[in-house]
Amino acid sequence: MSELTGRIALVTGGGSGIGRATALVFARAGADLIINDISPERAEGVASEVADLGRKALAIPADVADLGAVEAMAGQALKSFGKVDIVVNNAGIGVEVPFHKMSKEEWERMFAVHVGGTFHCTRSLLPQMMERRWGRIISISSVAGLMGEVGLVHYSAAKAAILGFTKALAREMASYGITVNAIAPGLIDTPLARSIQPELWQKFVSASPVGHEGKPEDIAHACAYLASEGASFVTGQVLSPNGGIWM
Ligand SMILES: NC(=O)c1ccc[n+]([C@@H]2O[C@H](COP(=O)([O-])OP(=O)(O)OC[C@H]3O[C@@H](n4cnc5c(N)ncnc54)[C@H](O)[C@@H]3O)[C@@H](O)[C@H]2O)c1
Repeated sequence: MSELTGRIALVTGGGSGIGRATALVFARAGADLIINDISPERAEGVASEVADLGRKALAIPADVADLGAVEAMAGQALKSFGKVDIVVNNAGIGVEVPFHKMSKEEWERMFAVHVGGTFHCTRSLLPQMMERRWGRIISISSVAGLMGEVGLVHYSAAKAAILGFTKALAREMASYGITVNAIAPGLIDTPLARSIQPELWQKFVSASPVGHEGKPEDIAHACAYLASEGASFVTGQVLSPNGGIWM
């Protein structure tokens, strides 16, 4: 029996990069998956990769910034699987813009997706975890939320908000057997990261003691650890697989 056998996990933004890798690592560990993404094609693609690994998978396209869409997704997931044990709040966007040129719309969309999405998905699925007195909330922050990054003031602020969310909710949920943790990745080779300016990419790689970017699987395995039974004493923590760029 693998570590996540019998567990049902929702991975938001599961159609690409870190979310896709997390879904596949969870499936190999025995979990069944709900793959959310704003892109129906990407969600379906990863759901079929999970199915190829012999696990059940349901693709649910939805914008995590939309509370109504997330509530409908939670309803569909619970109808199909009867429960959701693990929520990985991973969906994200990264648009570089100097702060003095940032529009209100750019600022608000960053918060709507990262902070709103984390609130919507967690809020919708927490009550059924509380009833069963077991659950895992894992939210993907960023080293940008710990150290700040040029051109990413809105992103850094939203990722820092996820850390406050994590610590406060961890305290509220501790007596229910639900752990709440964040992961703050360094530079990871995904389509989102590849969209940043090449100079920023090079700056990150040069500043990193390991001298190279990480792989989506480096974050997926951190998620699998936090989702495991073995991590039941770990809550309110920020795990930062980052090649040593932030210590
Ligand atoms: N790649 C990195 O270097 C890095 C570093 C730190 C943190 N992160 C965070 O990791 C998470 C995953 O990013 P990634 O690098 O794998 O990027 P990615 O672009 O490969 O994947 C992100 C996925 O999220 C989906 N998505 C975007 N907005 C959505 C929405 N509103 N609702 C539902 N799905 C949505 C996209 O369609 C995409 O499939 C993000 O939260 C990102 O901020 C990434």
